[in-house]
Amino acid sequence: MKWPEHGGQPNKIFALKGIATDHHFFDFSANINPLGPPPELKESLFKAYDQFERYPDPDYRKETKLVAAHERLYEDVVLLTNGGSEAIFLVAQLFSGKKALIIEPTFSEYERACYVYRLSVSHVSLQLDHDFSFPLEKVLSKIEEVDVVFLCRPNNPTGTVVAIEDIKELLEKGLECQTTIVIDEAFIHFLPSEITDLTHLMDTFSNLILLRSLTKIYAIPSLRLGYVIARPEIIVQLKKNQIPWSINGIVASFLPSLVAQDGFIEATKSWLQGQLKLLTTEFTKLGFYYSPTCVNFYLLKDLNQDTNTEELLEFLLDNKIIPRHTHTFKGLDGNYLRMAVRSAEENNYLLETLRNWREKRC
Ligand SMILES: Cc1ncc(COP(=O)(O)O)c(C=O)c1O
Repeated sequence: MKWPEHGGQPNKIFALKGIATDHHFFDFSANINPLGPPPELKESLFKAYDQFERYPDPDYRKETKLVAAHERLYEDVVLLTNGGSEAIFLVAQLFSGKKALIIEPTFSEYERACYVYRLSVSHVSLQLDHDFSFPLEKVLSKIEEVDVVFLCRPNNPTGTVVAIEDIKELLEKGLECQTTIVIDEAFIHFLPSEITDLTHLMDTFSNLILLRSLTKIYAIPSLRLGYVIARPEIIVQLKKNQIPWSINGIVASFLPSLVAQDGFIEATKSWLQGQLKLLTTEFTKLGFYYSPTCVNFYLLKDLNQDTNTEELLEFLLDNKIIPRHTHTFKGLDGNYLRMAVRSAEENNYLLETLRNWREKRC
């Protein structure tokens, strides 16, 4: 079966399963902010009309300054990109023909970018039997064999976060053997505030590259915005390879309103933690496994049907809920469903549907 590679493609799932396309469905497959874009953006959209006929500044000086100031960084360590995806491909290109290590199961675009730039790839798996915990010793033992490590924190699809102490050990070992550690923080803005991001490690570890996306937190997948944080020489190299005017002028013109949205991020974080608490309490009562997530998505499976989620997937589809299958995540082999945290009403509807499922199976 040809499963779609990413979430957010309900029509492909309907076609695959031979279900007539239905416009009334709940899309739990795409992991963007369920609160939607900040309402203030509506006003900016109207103003952005004037931007349509102009090329943006190819160096995005003003916009880079804004993002850097927002992250309390110097401008020369930041490169804006067309979403986190462009950031991944630009960084992979730096290591063309070299050796990469990817910690799986994770976002599939690291592997694809490595394939495009002919990197040879090896993998280490998270501990599937231990709540997807990070296999520090295994990764440390592989670092000297590779030029670059790709790691996702918080990780897509598990929602789990590698401890900062483990990250420091990787970076230290990486410095010893000249290996770059690339950490994708596309979902960093969803984390509870007590879990720190990694920008403060930039001064100590020259081998650290961070990738970010604002697409997810601001729910703007049609506009796209990402950035790389790395030492200035790397930023210069990445910029040389970037397609001119890569970031569209509309999103560039939105930046002042976006970076002024700290309240929106804080509100998302606290709302999300409340929903996660409610969902996970109910999943436990209903006999479902969920990955120990800290963010806006999680892996789910019925503990009574350990290796067959196909039936559950079809039951949810029949009830107009679109999960993200996990056939294309290495090591998961379709044994879990990745679910987004959606609005409170949609989450309640999911719980109600799972209760019905459980009643039928008892
Ligand atoms: C871990 C991760 N990094 C990066 C991206 C891509 O981000 P963007 O949509 O900003 O290109 C995604 C998208 O799903 C993702 O899951």
